[in-house]
Order: sequence, then C-alpha cells, then structure tokens
Amino acid sequence: MNEGAGRKLLGKVVVVTGAARGQGAAEAAALTREGARVIATDVESADGCRRLDVSSEEDWAGLAAELRETYGEVHGLVNNAGITWRARIGDVRPEDMARVHAVNVTGPLLGMQHLAPLMPVGSSVVNVGSSAALTAHYPVAYTTSKWALRGLSKTAALELGPRGIRVNTIHPGYIETEMTASAAPAFREANLRETPLGRTGGVDDVAPLVVFLLSDESSFISGAEIPVDGGMTAHGGVKSVSDALRPDSGS
Ligand SMILES: NC(=O)c1ccc[n+]([C@@H]2O[C@H](COP(=O)([O-])OP(=O)(O)OC[C@H]3O[C@@H](n4cnc5c(N)ncnc54)[C@H](O)[C@@H]3O)[C@@H](O)[C@H]2O)c1
Repeated sequence: MNEGAGRKLLGKVVVVTGAARGQGAAEAAALTREGARVIATDVESADGCRRLDVSSEEDWAGLAAELRETYGEVHGLVNNAGITWRARIGDVRPEDMARVHAVNVTGPLLGMQHLAPLMPVGSSVVNVGSSAALTAHYPVAYTTSKWALRGLSKTAALELGPRGIRVNTIHPGYIETEMTASAAPAFREANLRETPLGRTGGVDDVAPLVVFLLSDESSFISGAEIPVDGGMTAHGGVKSVSDALRPDSGS
C-alpha cells in the first residue's frame, strides 16, 4: 500500500511559529501527520524547534535563506506565535503596547514578507487571531494587536491573492494552554459561562482547522475568518439573557 495515500499535505513545506508548546506544537504535529515537512520554530528552545523570534527581521531573513537553499519553496506559514499582557486601559504603558504588537502584528507581517517570495501558486498562510479580535476584551494591548492582525490578514489576502497565495485567519476562544493557565481562575469560569458549548477548547480542537486551511481542500477560501470558540463570539453577549430566561432557571 502507498504510505502517502490520503495524506492531505504530502510534499508541502510548512513553517509554524510559536511551536514549542500549546497550539503551535499541536499544529506542527497534526501537519506532520498529514505528510507536511514542518519547520517548527519558537523563541524558546524545545525539541525539534528551530530558534526564531518572530519580531526579528534578521531571524526571518536567516530562515528564508535557509529554506530557499534547502527546499527552494515554502507552501505554508502558520503565524501562531503570540503573547498577551493583561493590563487595562488605565495601566497599560506605551512600551507594553509596542512589545505585544511587535510579536502579534509585526511578527506575522515579517513572516509573510520574507516567505511569500518563496511561495508558489496554491500556497496558504494561516494567521492566528483570537476571539479578542472579534469583540471588546479587557487586555487592551492584546486586543488591539489581534484586531490589527485582522486588518493585516485581509490586506495580505488582497495583495497575495493574485499570486495564488491564500491568507486566512482563525480566532480561537478559550483554549487550554499555558497562556490561559496563567490567567486568574475567574477568567476560565467567566469564559465557560459565555460559551454555548459549555466547555473550554483543547489544542486538538484547533489543529484540524489549520490542516484544512493549509490543504488543497480549502483552495478557494481566502480572506476568511473562522472562530474556533464553542459559539462564544456568535451570540454577541446575550447568552446571559438566554440563560436567565430558560424555563429551568426560575424566570
Ligand atoms: N490559549 C488561548 O485561549 C488563545 C485564545 C485565542 C488566541 N490564542 C492565540 O493562539 C496562539 C498560540 O497561543 P497558545 O495558547 O498556544 O499560547 P502559549 O503561550 O502556550 O504558546 C505561545 C508560543 O509562542 C511562543 N512565542 C512567544 N513570543 C514569541 C516570539 N517573539 N517569537 C517566536 N515565538 C514566540 C512562546 O514561546 C510559546 O511557545 C497565540 O497567537 C495566542 O494569542 C490563544
């Protein structure tokens, strides 16, 4: 039997940022299972990860040169690396804004600038946004960065489309990773209350969507934004109203 049969990403070279842990690690594993040659990267060292700080132009230039030499082409980029900073409007400092935006916005921009020249027709970029990019959310540096990433993704889909490169954005809700574990327990509980599916997400709820968006199965999808949030952003804040009026709620 042909071992490659049915594998969706056979022969594709794919770069994943922030792949040392969390969603990036799960995405790198899922992409590898589908036959991709994955270049897992992170600013932290981890087994199988190449060092790349997404906010460093020099790091991206080095990676692009290496990939050009080794493979000649790159077919996929997952701009997954991201950081949060939980200061509200009254407390956030300009340097916090700059630091978070450098990773969450300039990082994906640099990735696309440096890797798009290596991408043939049919290539695909996935930018990892957040439910915070679809609603108001209290950590202002993070929220503004993820809204900016939406604008960047739309512009990139417009600019790179004529070259046959697709650009899509996914918006995870509450996913169990180190990032969410570092928040106060009340954050998890409040997210659960707002999530119609009544549970938090896991990294394996997100990774299959990334596989799909990098595969040829999504060949006419570009500029799209897909929430992976258990329905949280779809209800626009009225879940509490619906819950309050349920027959079993006593109202
Ligand atoms: N966990 C969630 O609930 C959630 C929800 C919405 C969006 N997101 C987004 O999903 C993505 C992945 O987050 P996660 O939950 O796996 O978090 P995580 O903190 O577990 O993983 C993030 C990874 O990015 C890496 N990273 C940080 N700065 C970097 C840099 N400058 N260069 C390269 N790598 C860097 C970290 O070392 C880490 O390995 C992020 O963009 C995050 O904003 C997460």
